[in-house]
Amino acid sequence: TSIDVPSAEYELGDHPDFMRKEMREQPDAVDRCLRGRLDRRFMSARLDGVGLTAQEYQRIRRVKLLGCGSAYYAGQVGAGLVEELARIPADAEPASEFRYRNPVVDPDTLYVAISQSGETLDTLAAVQELKRKGGHVIGVVNAVGSTIARECGSGIFLHAGPEVSVAATKSFTAMTVALALLALDLGRVRDLSITEGRRLVAGLSELPAQLTAILGQEDGIAEIAARYAKAEHMFFLGRVRGWPVAREGAQKLKEISYLHAEAYQASELKHGPLALINPGMPTVFVIPDDELLAKNTATVEEIKARGGPVIAVTDADLPAGLATDVIRIPKAHDALTPITLSVPLQLFAYHLAKALGRDIDRPRNLAKSVTVE
Ligand code: G6P
Repeated sequence: TSIDVPSAEYELGDHPDFMRKEMREQPDAVDRCLRGRLDRRFMSARLDGVGLTAQEYQRIRRVKLLGCGSAYYAGQVGAGLVEELARIPADAEPASEFRYRNPVVDPDTLYVAISQSGETLDTLAAVQELKRKGGHVIGVVNAVGSTIARECGSGIFLHAGPEVSVAATKSFTAMTVALALLALDLGRVRDLSITEGRRLVAGLSELPAQLTAILGQEDGIAEIAARYAKAEHMFFLGRVRGWPVAREGAQKLKEISYLHAEAYQASELKHGPLALINPGMPTVFVIPDDELLAKNTATVEEIKARGGPVIAVTDADLPAGLATDVIRIPKAHDALTPITLSVPLQLFAYHLAKALGRDIDRPRNLAKSVTVE
């Protein structure tokens, strides 16, 4: 299927910059990514472009997701979804590392190359290395007709529309949605029940409205972000579902504000970085409303006991006064919370960078797509 993208998508219109425009396009981008792909008869996903039969799906023993930058972090969200929904071991690795380490390529592994532009050299080289060794690789790509899409020959197009700003926003969100569809499809061929499939189909179709609601919270998030613009360093913490979200949140802040942002597993804090917590080290803490909520609130207490300010980004109803600041968003299906929780972090990075007067769409030293060594 091909979807016509109006050429106005390349123009700024009334928006101050492309990053803000592209953040605001996310409900539409997700809607396009989902269009025609939710199978309400079998409560699964319809991904014709993947081109694998049910028998071939059954033979997959492992899923390996490859990408660079935000595409790698989207891959980490995808790995979590594949393990949770399909119970297939899955992991993500930077394509830039994979291509240079003489990887063991296994015929029972499904390889997934993720790229907005479809032109990132490291990701293309990983795909070529995989093909040379007989690996089966599909693409999760935004740009139709791009080199990686052609090299893979099968996969899932994001249909997110063109992305101009160097900092990935709507492409990241669409990648995670496409990977949720893949995980749902893999799960429904295996042991994911039709009841659970129905809950996921419902959860996915609610995403555009939930993203619209989150974007409606922009003013509140901007006010909080501006108050932290004088920080020199910031931690981004999360565990399990929150961990790739924290990494992508830190990545966004580094890219456009130039603050030093370090992502860490909340579970590892006490094994080292707790020594860095003090009143001058704010922590952005990603707290999904899931079975690890009590663990996360206990970690917030540990940070507060050392005087560290905490900005909680959550869909949970946290005890009053627990965090210094709270960005509370609508509750999504548990498995899909990495998708919704990433959006307030984009807005946070954006408004913090704005408060510092940064050139949002053209951050120093970075390119939208890295096509050279
Ligand atoms: C560059 C950009 C990143 C992007 C990465 C992967 O490094 O600065 O924002 O995430 O490339 O790009 P791709 O087009 O492959 O998703």
